[in-house]
Amino acid sequence: MPFLCFWCFAAAALSIVAVFRFYLKNKPPRSRSSHSSPPGSRGLPLIGETLQFMAAVNCSNGVYDFVTTRCLRYGGCFKTRIFGETHVFVSSNESAKLILNDGGGRFTKKYIKSIAELVGHQSLLCASHLHHKFLRSRLINLFSSCFLASFVMQFDQQIVPTFRCWNTGSTIVLLNEALKITCKAMCKMLISLEKENEVEAFQKEVGYVCEAMLAFPWRFPGTRFHKGLKARRRIIKILERMIQERRESEPQHGDFLQRLLTEEDGGEPLSDAEIGDNILTMLIAGQDTTASAITWMMKFLHENQDVLQNLKEEQFRILGKKQDHGSCFLTLEDLRNMPYAAKVVKESLRLASIVPWFPRLILRDTEMEGYKIKKGWNVNIDVRSLHLDPCLYKDPIKFNPSRFDEEAKPFSFLAFGMGGRQCLGMNLAKAMMLVFLHRLLTSFRWKVIDSDSSIEKWALFTKLRSGCPILITRIES
Ligand code: HEM
Repeated sequence: MPFLCFWCFAAAALSIVAVFRFYLKNKPPRSRSSHSSPPGSRGLPLIGETLQFMAAVNCSNGVYDFVTTRCLRYGGCFKTRIFGETHVFVSSNESAKLILNDGGGRFTKKYIKSIAELVGHQSLLCASHLHHKFLRSRLINLFSSCFLASFVMQFDQQIVPTFRCWNTGSTIVLLNEALKITCKAMCKMLISLEKENEVEAFQKEVGYVCEAMLAFPWRFPGTRFHKGLKARRRIIKILERMIQERRESEPQHGDFLQRLLTEEDGGEPLSDAEIGDNILTMLIAGQDTTASAITWMMKFLHENQDVLQNLKEEQFRILGKKQDHGSCFLTLEDLRNMPYAAKVVKESLRLASIVPWFPRLILRDTEMEGYKIKKGWNVNIDVRSLHLDPCLYKDPIKFNPSRFDEEAKPFSFLAFGMGGRQCLGMNLAKAMMLVFLHRLLTSFRWKVIDSDSSIEKWALFTKLRSGCPILITRIES
């Protein structure tokens, strides 16, 4: 029932937003002079609309509620004041294109101070334009297609024995299990950490950091922010020790840490602080996001049995072919032969909008959507509203992978961002989703036993609060 209520609410809200968008697009340009700033409320003195924002973060629909109510009142481009700063929200693909194509001339990425403190000031998430360019050029080399091919096999080798331990008739909380699996994969890939107890401890520490991301930056013992900062310090200490040990011995691993220490391309090496902060960044950026995406995908599939049926046909065909050839683990080539599954992945990412908004800082006075946006303000691309925009996607709340038979409109699919800040782990994440999908589908039938669509409070990424418990039945071969 809560699921139905959610979608009824979403459908109603979307229809109203669509009518408003139509109205705003067609109303006379009088109120959209390039000299006026976007409409919106600056809220109470000092605190602005921080309380309303925090209340939304604490609700089952997250920031989306905060944004939707203001979209209805002011249109697709509005301003507000949160944490003492002016924020403009935009949700059209034209604005997204302008911002994401800019390359640091007028916009730069900016997270709230507390996030920068948690991921570290040397993280590419928070680096200034030039520093970001340098860090990205070093990190991007790690994600080569050669690496991806070996990662796919490795990931499948981790998943197969895990799934063997799942007993028929048992209940699995998908988000928790997916998180264990993605954490294990990231720990091995980044720092060759494989011992179960050590991986579990790392997962817990990273969890504290993630939970602190949207918390009030109170530093008192017991607060989420304080716990997050302490966990960050412990993780960095472990990484520093690893870096020290690796520097003093012969290379034994081919993981990301080793490759960053080895200066493969002869370029300027990263400092220890840069390596530490960016390994932590990749842990945060990679595991929670991918696990959440997997969970949403399985939920959408359960709710759309026709799609599931089509997908099963494709996946069992691939399994059959592999068995005929006597090959065991999935390869990158196998994943490339899953066109329908690739569309299921894409559609799940569109509907879930795991990273719901992209924050940027305005470096120069700018004009956008007919309004003047001032230097020093923040602008946020509201990805979730964009992904659910009826002008960009017909019947936007329907889970319909076949909509991607046709190329999406430019800058209308932003699950991984675009431009100079596009997700570095995009292909890795898609590969993990496909491998998980293939193995779950060909090993089990499953039934979602809590269909509540509420999202986790205070989470930076859109994840299901219920964790999506499923009842599994093994498919006998
Ligand atoms: C389904 C899973 C994932 C989703 C939805 C996702 C989404 C995103 C998005 C939207 C951005 C850009 C945000 C912006 O422009 O403000 C981003 C950046 C990033 N992602 Fe991912 N991501 C995922 C998985 C991963 C994985 C597996 C890694 C690998 C380690 C990763 C590493 C990164 C990094 C390092 C950045 C920063 C890039 C930069 O600033 O230059 N992500 N991700």
